[in-house]
Amino acid sequence: MSEHSEVFWQDYAVSRRDRTALLKQEPLLLWFTGLSGAGKTTLANCLAKRLYDFGYATYVLDGDNLRHGLNRDLGFSVAARHENVRRMAEVAGLMYDAGLITLAACISPFKAERDFARSLVPAEKFVEVFVDTPLSLCEQRDNKGLYRRARAGEIINFTGIDSPFERPEEPEIAIHTTGRSPVECVDAIMDYLFAHRLISETGPGVRIEKR
Ligand code: ADX
Repeated sequence: MSEHSEVFWQDYAVSRRDRTALLKQEPLLLWFTGLSGAGKTTLANCLAKRLYDFGYATYVLDGDNLRHGLNRDLGFSVAARHENVRRMAEVAGLMYDAGLITLAACISPFKAERDFARSLVPAEKFVEVFVDTPLSLCEQRDNKGLYRRARAGEIINFTGIDSPFERPEEPEIAIHTTGRSPVECVDAIMDYLFAHRLISETGPGVRIEKR
């Protein structure tokens, strides 16, 4: 909703329902949250490939990648981080509206910002995936060397070190990655999606009533 009274909402000639009928799939928003190095992007990519193999149209939005483009003006202050996640959520909402199974992976350390993302799509279409990897393991992996730099005081406001991560209280899925391969973790997510009839073993092909 615009803050400006002179900005109006335009309706479109082709609706989400039309796109759903065309693509023969219901969109979804899978929101991956967790510490840096938890495995969010790895799992989102692996899941996207699995869904693709079933014939589903997907799109992955990754916090790091968005920070190279749309969010390149943002740093890691509390305000910048809120704005980063807000933009990610808005873009994810558009991807959802486009009819895609959208996989968004960003730390999103604060509950309020994850709840904002949740508010953008119907309740049953939002799947919060908490990639629950202990800080000690993320720090041990330290793929990008950022934890070491944060401990050395070279990076400030680093999530888990000197900036909080609010653990999701009731995520739809919590994945414990310790000792499990990405494939096993993705199996668990797929099981959830099948069990909740959010996707089908036979791939796309939902029958949407004509409007
Ligand atoms: S978020 O907090 O705004 O959601 P986002 O997922 O986009 O974070 O980006 C986090 C990535 O930026 C991390 O994976 C890490 O590589 C890098 N990074 C750089 N500085 C920080 C920091 N201070 N805190 C967390 N991540 C950081």
